[in-house]
Amino acid sequence: MKHILVIGGAGYIGSHTVRMLAQQGYQPVVLDNLSKGHREAVSNYPFELGDLGDKALLTRIFQKYPIEAVMHFAAFIEVGESVKEPSKYYHNNVAQVLNLLDSMVENHVKYFVFSSTAATFGEPVKPKIDETHPQNPINPYGNTKLMVEKMLADFDTAYGLKATALRYFNASGADDSGEIGESHNPESHLIPIVLQAAAGKRPSIKVFGDDYPTADGTCIRDYIHVNDLARAHILALEKMMKEDKSERFNLGSGTGFSVAELIKEAKKITGIDFKVEVAPRRAGDPAVLVADSTKAQQVLGWKPEYSLTRILQTAWNWEQNRKY
Ligand code: UFG
Repeated sequence: MKHILVIGGAGYIGSHTVRMLAQQGYQPVVLDNLSKGHREAVSNYPFELGDLGDKALLTRIFQKYPIEAVMHFAAFIEVGESVKEPSKYYHNNVAQVLNLLDSMVENHVKYFVFSSTAATFGEPVKPKIDETHPQNPINPYGNTKLMVEKMLADFDTAYGLKATALRYFNASGADDSGEIGESHNPESHLIPIVLQAAAGKRPSIKVFGDDYPTADGTCIRDYIHVNDLARAHILALEKMMKEDKSERFNLGSGTGFSVAELIKEAKKITGIDFKVEVAPRRAGDPAVLVADSTKAQQVLGWKPEYSLTRILQTAWNWEQNRKY
């Protein structure tokens, strides 16, 4: 059974990937410092408590389990916060990852799946963002992820470390089982906030800007279900190990929805007419981010299965019965 170290495995995307790895016959080993993650999300799997950049701990883990590959989900991910506190982002998302990569090289662990982001591209110069799109991030979060992508290319050239960078667009939804889902504290992501407004846990949803150059003035994003992302990780891992080659893929549905459209759909699915307010723009937000995932479809045979409606349904199910 292949052992995969999943760093940040107790977090949102990590926990869904851990579950799918186990379902597909892998042995996930979770490393998480639980600063953001939830122990309950990974109670059935080997668990190590600690930081991703702790080299002594990593060496112990690499000696304890026959780890063949590492997946890395333990990043800070909030665009707005990264503008206000860049130092925190450069430390965790870059410096700590450098320690991790050094440790992998020292311990001869050769394969790495890296959670990158649409935020590495900055303002789009064409309607859909494919892998050839220029990468000019407009916020510190995107900068940190692009820096690691560059480090990975250099580590491949120099040390033969093979890495696949997966640029997610907007991860969303929850597992159909209702056992795991999205839970950030504080929550900053649109879908959980919208559904918390529907559930009466918040007085309203604030729309950050209605004067963007889009049809209804609100930002457009490409929402992709967390299990579709999890599946892409496993396909990418298998391809990388088979071909011994570094790669990069953009992962989205290829369809954009505005904040206003999403709110409308959420009202339909929940049957609740919650309060919507317009607020000022949030720093660091591009107007439109939509993926062209043709490469992932052609090279990995990956195809997103969840529509926006199902994304919202699974998220609504989670919101009403959340375990953490
Ligand atoms: N938004 C609101 N009100 C809210 C929260 C969000 O109007 O209360 C808007 C945002 O301004 C944005 C959209 O909803 O236009 C989506 O915002 P999210 O915070 O849910 O997601 P982001 O697009 O900012 O960022 C997410 C991840 C990043 C990742 C990015 C890639 O958090 O890690 O997707 O597209 F880089």
